[in-house]
Order: sequence, then structure tokens, then C-alpha cells
Amino acid sequence: MRNSLKVLIVSVLLSGCTSAEELEYEQYLVNGEILYKQRCANCHGEKGEGLRNLYPALAGNAVLGNTSQVICLIKNGIRADQAQSKQAMPPNPELFDLDIAQLVTFLKDKYAGKPQKVTANEVKEILLDCAP
Ligand code: HEC
Repeated sequence: MRNSLKVLIVSVLLSGCTSAEELEYEQYLVNGEILYKQRCANCHGEKGEGLRNLYPALAGNAVLGNTSQVICLIKNGIRADQAQSKQAMPPNPELFDLDIAQLVTFLKDKYAGKPQKVTANEVKEILLDCAP
């Protein structure tokens, strides 16, 4: 009886813990999607489908596996003279590390099918090392 009570308490604690993490992850996805719609969807499409040769599709794009590259280019944008398409991507200097973390978490989950929470601390570290 006492043992099963312990098991019950432990499992309640564990599941409480998991759902707090899950909740936070869900929150990242929701906020990430809002940011995506505000700042990215104009060019890259509501569903990440891109626009012909002008704006690359993000859905299924292998670049999403390169977390540092994606973080740096969200923050710093891409200059037209450095873009393959000769189209510039605007920088987002006013986004907080947490905004970028949520955005990249959303992109990885929805457009790369790879659920992985990116944290604000990771973003901060990576931004120190972006190529100029
Ligand atoms: C004004 C249009 C525009 C907006 C807004 C924009 N992008 Fe881009 N993005 C581009 C263009 C153009 C390129 C490709 C540049 C090139 O040809 O090298 C690009 C490239 C990218 C790439 C690299 C794709 C690849 O295949 O290398 C990623 C990832 C990306 N954008 C993510 C985002 C995210 C996330 C946002 C929102 C924060 C965003 N972009 C907002 C125009 C835009």
C-alpha cells in the first residue's frame, strides 16, 4: 500500500513536470508562429512555401538543420549583393534572443519536422559568433 502510494506520488510529480515542459514548448510554437506571420510570411509564404525564384521556400528546407546559420540570418538579414537571388532579406535588430529562439523552434518543428527547443541562451551564444 505504501509503495503504491509512493509510485502514485512520483508519477504525479513526473507527469506534472512533463506537462510544464510541454506547455512551455507549446508556448514557443505559438509565439514563434505569431512572429513568423508578422515578419517572415510576407516573403516566405503563410505555409513556408516561398515565392517562385524570389523567396526560397522554408518548408522542407535543409538550411533549417543549421541552427547557427538560421539564427544569424534572422538577426542580420541578407544583403542583396550577397544573395543568390539578388533579393535582400531585411535584418531584425529589434528582436530579443527569446523571440528568435521561439521563431527558430517554430521553424524546426513545423517546417523541418524536427521538434527541438532552441533557448534564448543558445541564441545569445550563437549571435556572438555570426559572420559579419
Ligand atoms: C523581404 C522579404 C523577406 C522577409 C520579410 C524574410 N526573408 Fe528570409 N529570405 C529572403 C530572401 C530573398 C532570401 C534568399 C536570399 C538569397 O537568395 O540568398 C531569404 C533567405 C532565407 C533563409 C535561407 C534560405 C536558404 O535556402 O538558404 C532563411 C532560413 C530565411 N530567409 C528565413 C527567414 C525568416 C525566419 C524570416 C522572418 C524573421 C525571413 N526570412 C524574412 C527574403 C525575406
